[in-house]
Amino acid sequence: MRTFLFICVVIFSGIASAFLVGFQPESATQPLEYDDEQENLKNQIVIKVSHVVSENTPKGKAVRRFKNLVEKNTNGHVKVEIYPNGSLYSDINEWNALKNNNVQMIIPATSKISPYVPEFQVFDLPFAFNDYEQVEEAFTGKIGKTLLARLENQEGVKGLTFWYNGFKQITNNRRPLVSPGDFNRLHFRTMPGDIIQDQYQALGAATSSLPFNKTYENLQVGFIDGHENTISNIYSKKLFENQNYLTVSNHSYLGYVVVMNQEFWDKLPEVYQVEIEEALKQTTDWIRRHSIEINDQHMRELKLNTSLNIHILLDWEKEKWMENLKPIYDKYESVIGKELMKEVQRIRDS
Ligand code: LMR
Repeated sequence: MRTFLFICVVIFSGIASAFLVGFQPESATQPLEYDDEQENLKNQIVIKVSHVVSENTPKGKAVRRFKNLVEKNTNGHVKVEIYPNGSLYSDINEWNALKNNNVQMIIPATSKISPYVPEFQVFDLPFAFNDYEQVEEAFTGKIGKTLLARLENQEGVKGLTFWYNGFKQITNNRRPLVSPGDFNRLHFRTMPGDIIQDQYQALGAATSSLPFNKTYENLQVGFIDGHENTISNIYSKKLFENQNYLTVSNHSYLGYVVVMNQEFWDKLPEVYQVEIEEALKQTTDWIRRHSIEINDQHMRELKLNTSLNIHILLDWEKEKWMENLKPIYDKYESVIGKELMKEVQRIRDS
């Protein structure tokens, strides 16, 4: 009986104190103390950035840098939320997510813009540029300016600048890729774009355009024999596993376009537009300089820590590839336009 009474007292006092402490009507609670950080939160502008690669790649590191600069220079009034590794949107749906303002910024590879603006395939032309300086000239000169202007015709999208990664290389699990005949009947994962598909077909191979983050599993189950990408993407996503051969072909350049939602951009107070543009300028300069060293570092890791058989394509082997690939230049002149084709030639011969 005593125990029963004791339990009743405990329960009753618990309920009574819950009422006193926690269930008071709202009017009875004290107003929260003023906190200027909360004030900031109310007015904070958030830029959600979605991308598909790892954080230790040129793009992953550059976005983080961009975030730090923007947040510092706007005193935290503009916040940048980064969603890497396709954690929010895959490369297939990030374009629409941007247009619908579900994210405010994406940084797709140029070839991923090609379904909307086919001229972006200029960077997929085989062996279009010989080195990093030529790519920089293309991004910052007539080619880059023309392409960003073309993006203005895309509703809801504002093209801001180009970012750098590196030249693409090819891996596969069957044989060393040295002469065009070595591609025969192999099946490769590629990014979207008619020129990329035609390039493999011209070498006798088949392709599937698959999302970046499905590449590993498709290599693992053997649906594809190989794929092409930059060394930093191959290394950071372990796309060398299940692969025996790597050909350093430098056959085309993987760069990015930084794009924002147009309406979001237009509504930003001018003072923030200026800060964002300045942060982008500094980040672009950073990724231009550091993308090379990140890819080199990852190449050293591949050489040291994997059993990949690595072949560096020689000039005369490249000439052989080009015998098969040259018709692509004629076929796509009308898509890319005479002016841009001439500019590619001018830069390459300079
Ligand atoms: C790919 O799909 O392979 C690349 O576009 C990934 C990236 O963003 O670098």
